[in-house]
Amino acid sequence: MVSGFLSKEYFCDREEELSTLINHIENQRNIVIYGNRRMGKTALIKCLFESLKNEKTECFHVDIMACQNLNSVIQLIGKAVINKYGKNKLGEGFTKEFTKLLSQLKVTIGIDPLTHAPEISMGLQNSEDAETTLHEIGKYLTSKSEQIVFCIDEFQQITTFSENNTEAIFRNWMQSFPTIRFIFSGSHKSMIESMFTQKNRPFYQSCNLLFLNPISEPLYQTFIQYHFQKEDTLISMEDIHTIYQWAEGQTYSVQLQCNLLYSKNVGITESSIAEVQQDILDQDKPYFGYLYNMLTLQQQKVLKAIASNLENLPLLSSRFIQNHNLGSMSSVQGAIKSLLDKDLIELTSENYVLTDVIFKNWLKSIP
Ligand SMILES: Nc1ncnc2c1ncn2[C@@H]1O[C@H](COP(=O)(O)OP(=O)(O)OP(=O)(O)O)[C@@H](O)[C@H]1O
Ligand SMILES: [Mg+2]
Repeated sequence: MVSGFLSKEYFCDREEELSTLINHIENQRNIVIYGNRRMGKTALIKCLFESLKNEKTECFHVDIMACQNLNSVIQLIGKAVINKYGKNKLGEGFTKEFTKLLSQLKVTIGIDPLTHAPEISMGLQNSEDAETTLHEIGKYLTSKSEQIVFCIDEFQQITTFSENNTEAIFRNWMQSFPTIRFIFSGSHKSMIESMFTQKNRPFYQSCNLLFLNPISEPLYQTFIQYHFQKEDTLISMEDIHTIYQWAEGQTYSVQLQCNLLYSKNVGITESSIAEVQQDILDQDKPYFGYLYNMLTLQQQKVLKAIASNLENLPLLSSRFIQNHNLGSMSSVQGAIKSLLDKDLIELTSENYVLTDVIFKNWLKSIP
């Protein structure tokens, strides 16, 4: 399993984060979960939903990564609500409130000619409808007796929309329905931080922020060893260390290496781990090659230098520039700016780092 959340047995740790999240929900606080890419944000949300399942709670998860405008987000939100409360009941047994919601959202229900599954479409035409529609959905949700937890994943996407008041619209939505618990999640650290911590932004100080750090190596060791032992496969602490270091603790890369090692079924050795790591790089080679070739020569040099900056030298220090033969300071500054704009690097509290650990490993592997 390399994607999503399967069950708690396949979910390592996050105990502290889970209890913090449950505490926020119980105390009516809205939440932002953010962190580096593929660090397990969505899996944590799904695990939280699993923990809340037995209580009188209804949870929604809407991923807006592919949305290009406000209407498409609202379509997703509306469909999530309709699917949850209308499932298997299409055409019969709807409550008065639900029928009213369907008419407010101008919903039409058709049948997919191939699968014969019911298909929902919403007649949302323009962005003026957006606020009203959101409001109606909020009203419907608050009419339910259960606690509603509503998560919008990849929330930073709204900052890319051409409409310039989307943040205010969602802030109003959140404020108008104080009994709904909202979770906003995203992987673009600086975008999320500025959205929720800058004074002049609508969401300023409106939510509790949870930054998702990597799972610690000792906890991951116990977890990985348990799963391999269950399958009668030996794995040493050194092997797990190699896997964890290469992934820099990123859950996706740890999971992927373990998954491939398991399916190779050749025993776990230094060389089978190296093979699996090479397989991972090879799989993404065309994409990484494309990304890399889109850069100017100077951007490529700076990016490679960042990937191999083991000493964590400041990028504008003369030692870093000289060690990597990067030319003038202003040209390094220019390259950094472009790489930031392209979201290939980000600024952490310590330094500029690559945003994708697999891409970083690929950069280290090329001449
Ligand atoms: N606590 C965990 N224990 C074990 N595996 C995990 C854990 N959390 C996440 N994973 C695995 O890591 C991978 C990435 O997780 P997930 O998709 O939740 O990350 P994400 O931060 O939401 O990624 P993205 O930035 O792409 O949205 C998945 O394969 C998932 O199964
Ligand atoms: Mg995710």
